[in-house]
Amino acid sequence: MGMSTHIGAKPGEIAPRVLLPGDPLRAKWIAETYLEDAKCYSNVRNMFGFTGTYHGVSVSVQGSGMGMPSASIYYHELLSDYGARVLIRVGSCGALTEELQLRDVVAASASSTDSAMNRVRFDGLIDYAPVASFELLRKAVDVAADKELPMHVGQVFAADAFYTDRPDLFDRLAAYGVLAVEMESAALYTLAARFRARALTLLTVSDHIKTGASTSSHEREQTFAHMVEVALDTVVA
Ligand code: HPA
Repeated sequence: MGMSTHIGAKPGEIAPRVLLPGDPLRAKWIAETYLEDAKCYSNVRNMFGFTGTYHGVSVSVQGSGMGMPSASIYYHELLSDYGARVLIRVGSCGALTEELQLRDVVAASASSTDSAMNRVRFDGLIDYAPVASFELLRKAVDVAADKELPMHVGQVFAADAFYTDRPDLFDRLAAYGVLAVEMESAALYTLAARFRARALTLLTVSDHIKTGASTSSHEREQTFAHMVEVALDTVVA
């Protein structure tokens, strides 16, 4: 009763402020590490979601899965059925430019994509520009500066496929100012706009497309924690 198709929460069990990792176990880790009185509201398909409080403010953390087809389901239902208003994706990315190093944090101001979802949405007539909420982006920049955590702000590429036959396009994107590749931001920004909500994507560089370097799982956990702290202080600000 009252539950959405893919999220098993009752109305009111999900906070208007939501953090969105791709990995549902990351959602569990964030809830257990940072939230007080965290309660799991959904384990449908093991795509866990939790609500607790952070500095006295109600915050939820919901796994989204990988890629825009999966993530869009969770973003859409959070926005349409549960009243999510402030959504921050916390994820990882591959660096496309030497300007970025492993473990750096990126705030995605805008997101290009090869997903066909917006082509279908706009009848193939318009190349819609998915962008972050300026207000949230500004807050995140301020929070990161207060924490003395360096953060790059710039464009990212939301890819449909993790494994690509066209790695040459990564260089083309980099030449046009795109910093990194991930797989969800364009859908998040588009859906948030559709529902008049605010959204931001924060990413840590887990691997480098140019050099092939990648972080250890221990390093990933540490940098992920710093980024999550920025996301939490931004989402409750
Ligand atoms: N490609 C797409 N998404 C990613 C990558 C990548 O190399 N690294 C982390 N997320």
